[in-house]
Amino acid sequence: MLSGVVLLLLLTDVVNTEGNCSYQDVLNHLNLKKDNELFSMTRPVKNFRTPTRVSLEVLLYAILDVVEKDQKFIPYVWTVTRWNNEYISWDPAQFCGINNVSLPTEVLWKPDLTIEEMTEKDKAPPSPYLTINNKGVVEVQNDQVLVSTCRMHIYKFPFDTQSCNLSFKSVIHAAKDIRLQASDNSSEATEWSREVMRTQYEWLFINMKVTARNATDLEDQDIIVYTINMKRRSILYIVNFLLPVLFFLGLDLASFLISDSGGEKLSFKVTVLLAITVLQLILNEILPASSNRIPLIAVYCIGIFGLMLLSLLETIFVMYLMERDSQDNEANGDQSGIEDCNRQDKALNNSDREVNKWTRCACIYDVTTGETPAEQLPVAKEGSSSSTKLNEEYQTLDKLSHELREMEKTLSQLLINSKAEYVAG
Ligand SMILES: *[C@@H]1O[C@H](CO)[C@@H](O)[C@H](O)[C@H]1NC(C)=O
Ligand SMILES: *[C@@H]1O[C@H](CO)[C@@H](O)[C@H](O)[C@H]1NC(C)=O
Ligand SMILES: *[C@@H]1O[C@H](CO)[C@@H](O)[C@H](O)[C@H]1NC(C)=O
Ligand SMILES: *[C@@H]1O[C@H](CO)[C@@H](O)[C@H](O)[C@H]1NC(C)=O
Ligand SMILES: *[C@@H]1O[C@H](CO)[C@@H](O)[C@H](O)[C@H]1NC(C)=O
Repeated sequence: MLSGVVLLLLLTDVVNTEGNCSYQDVLNHLNLKKDNELFSMTRPVKNFRTPTRVSLEVLLYAILDVVEKDQKFIPYVWTVTRWNNEYISWDPAQFCGINNVSLPTEVLWKPDLTIEEMTEKDKAPPSPYLTINNKGVVEVQNDQVLVSTCRMHIYKFPFDTQSCNLSFKSVIHAAKDIRLQASDNSSEATEWSREVMRTQYEWLFINMKVTARNATDLEDQDIIVYTINMKRRSILYIVNFLLPVLFFLGLDLASFLISDSGGEKLSFKVTVLLAITVLQLILNEILPASSNRIPLIAVYCIGIFGLMLLSLLETIFVMYLMERDSQDNEANGDQSGIEDCNRQDKALNNSDREVNKWTRCACIYDVTTGETPAEQLPVAKEGSSSSTKLNEEYQTLDKLSHELREMEKTLSQLLINSKAEYVAG
């Protein structure tokens, strides 16, 4: 019983001697309190001439959006910033081997890094904690959805690759206060980004390049530029845009097979042309108005539009010519038709060609008697297939027409005679 109490006392003694095992003990040792202005107000260096070396690591989690129209690039990045705080250090051996502690971000000084291209404040709250280690290195990790501007080159749209810059720099501190350096090189940044990349929508990540622009003058600022190269997945644009335009051109060409008579061909062509116009409107939505070079896709669209316009004009012109032709025929058509067929009567033989000609003449005769050409069409077609049968009909018709002409002659003779009698009377 007594030995038990002694053991317990011994144990508590051991705990007490090994007592600096909580994070709070570390903070007590550092004298780090929430309202300790030594830590949060000023740059943590013992001599103001020593610059704070800030190292930066950026990983790309996702390319969320690329808006060509607004020249906007929205990546989701993960940044790790590290720097040294000269007031922080402890011996892990004295504190149960604790070598790092997490703290709320506001208790310590932080470099005022910003991204030049950023146009909107990050809506997500910054990470609430930072980590300090026993050597005085402070580390802040942050997830950010960056809304940044990026000059896009859309000349080759939709087969384009874009490169967008994210330039990190301090807002007010010059190089004499803060020296920026990248802790990863281009190949590492690319490889790690590939590993953590979660989603790639329209854009395929190619690589990330890290460029350090060290200030030569200490009054200047160090800038680290992360250039993200990416390629557009163009397959949907091919399927949804380029091919339909081509199909419409095919349709327009096919419409040459539609007969010129009647307005169907014309309205068909106009419809196809309107379809292209709709696609062009969609294209207008996608492409920015700021591009000073006309994108190839716009040239493609306007080229096809021009071709269709030409074919439409051609149709209109042909229809106009046909209209005029038929008007001329109406004016002096009947007589010439009769004369034509009279000539053909003389050169009559049994060949199919002649039959066809003759049936055509028959049409003209029938037009004058009030029948439509459409009703005559089957006869003309039949003529070529069963020509011998038609030949017989043709000869009887020929006789008929001959008689008709004879009658006409006698009638006109009679008329002249009666006129003469009338005049004489
Ligand atoms: C615990 O920390 C205090 C204050 O820093 C120190 O005086 C004491 O020696 C430490 N105890 C041990 C066991 O390291
Ligand atoms: C923090 O300390 C823990 C335990 O000692 C260790 O596993 C971890 O890697 C440390 N983290 C950093 C960032 O040093
Ligand atoms: C991006 O940064 C690189 C390196 O500084 C520079 O050469 C390039 O012109 C920049 N691109 C844009 C679009 O600003
Ligand atoms: C990048 O860093 C890694 C390791 O630090 C090294 O192996 C590689 O050669 C470096 N690449 C370049 C391009 O400097
Ligand atoms: C910029 O400075 C860092 C160290 O501060 C150095 O590693 C890097 O090579 C320098 N870059 C250039 C382009 O001078």
